[in-house]
Amino acid sequence: MNGPVFILRGNIVYSKNQKELNICEHGYLVCRDGQVEGVYQTLPFRMGGNPIHDHGDCLIIPGLVDLHIHAPQYSFRGLGMDMELLEWLETNTFPEEAKYESLEYARKAYQIFADNMRRSATTRACIFGTVHSPATLLLMDMMEKTGLDTMIGKVNMDRNCPDYIIEETEESAGETLEWIRDVLHRKYQNTRPILTPRFTPSCTDELMEELKKLQMRYGLPLQSHLSENQVEIAWVKELCPWAGFYGDAYDRFGLFGADCPTVMAHCVYSGEQEIERMKENGVFIAHCPESNMNVSSGIAPVRTFLERGLHVGIGSDVAGGSTENLFRAMAHAVQSSKLRWRLTDDSLEALTAEEVFYMATKGGGAFFGKAGSFEKGDEFDAVVLDDSRLKHPQPLDVRSRLERMIYLADEREIRAKYVKGKEIDLT
Ligand code: GUN
Ligand code: FE
Repeated sequence: MNGPVFILRGNIVYSKNQKELNICEHGYLVCRDGQVEGVYQTLPFRMGGNPIHDHGDCLIIPGLVDLHIHAPQYSFRGLGMDMELLEWLETNTFPEEAKYESLEYARKAYQIFADNMRRSATTRACIFGTVHSPATLLLMDMMEKTGLDTMIGKVNMDRNCPDYIIEETEESAGETLEWIRDVLHRKYQNTRPILTPRFTPSCTDELMEELKKLQMRYGLPLQSHLSENQVEIAWVKELCPWAGFYGDAYDRFGLFGADCPTVMAHCVYSGEQEIERMKENGVFIAHCPESNMNVSSGIAPVRTFLERGLHVGIGSDVAGGSTENLFRAMAHAVQSSKLRWRLTDDSLEALTAEEVFYMATKGGGAFFGKAGSFEKGDEFDAVVLDDSRLKHPQPLDVRSRLERMIYLADEREIRAKYVKGKEIDLT
């Protein structure tokens, strides 16, 4: 390959594996044709003459991956948190999501979401829209313009929700088909459709069957919620007495991994059988620690997932989570794992900075293919962090500076961002 080459210079940090970092101080990260060519301590002679962006003492990390976020809920982030999941859905979520029937409202609200995602350290995301196809297409147009690489879904729900937002089964399936066709016509570069049954309580068996047909016809991935809250789980048992466990209620329809690339948010209460099935089927888990605290769901056994070799990434789950800032989500993942260890189960050691960084980059990135790291051939998603605002009386090593970013970074630290080799406008 002889495509265009450019080089970023700085302190390059990425995951070697779940437990260790690769660090190359004052090194060179080479991009060729939108992919990583390599990380070098000394620039190979043959690469001299290509443009070098020297970021001095800045940190350069892979772009962060948000495996679970709700775009329409961005408008009420940080509001109405004093409730458990199901009451929170009825009181805050459904009334707000209903507003996206109006394209005028959607345009205003989604612009704020798209702008803030663009300026964040996130380069890839799996995003829920609402049941409304026009607003979801508008969201996709807007996200495409940001340059971020995303999967976005029109939500399906044909039972157990208020009249003002519920769909008829046929209408839900038909609208989804039309939406997929419309998306494919638009020939986006960076925006893909993803099937989005909200969760088992809001989708009938008939609707799940229809979604499977669409999944096979178009080879689509799928995102949903799983084993988030105890009342929700008991409800799924009532609705699907034939299911061996919650995840089985998706798997019966072929909507739980295997030939359907799947990401499930939460998995706070996944038992042995569910964990085993997720492993067998290659289901990705989106760990959403802030949301799990805010709507009082619990704390997922993330170390078990990691030790068992499951795919685990991080989700902000706005507006269960209050912020799209994935550095916050990483810190919450470490902090909540410590409380879990201290208060409920000392057999699972707390997560480390290395582990949550892995989850927010390479772990979630794998859902998008070769993303989330700086191995040769990975898609070139990078974030340059300037932490000079955060003064320290002594020099800190690069690992410590990365840890500090996890706890302290906001958009002020983000100096540049690239997705597939293209620089993103941060203004
Ligand atoms: N389960 C079903 N819908 C939702 C949602 O919007 N947020 C969260 N956190 N859980 C859900
Ligand atoms: Fe969610």
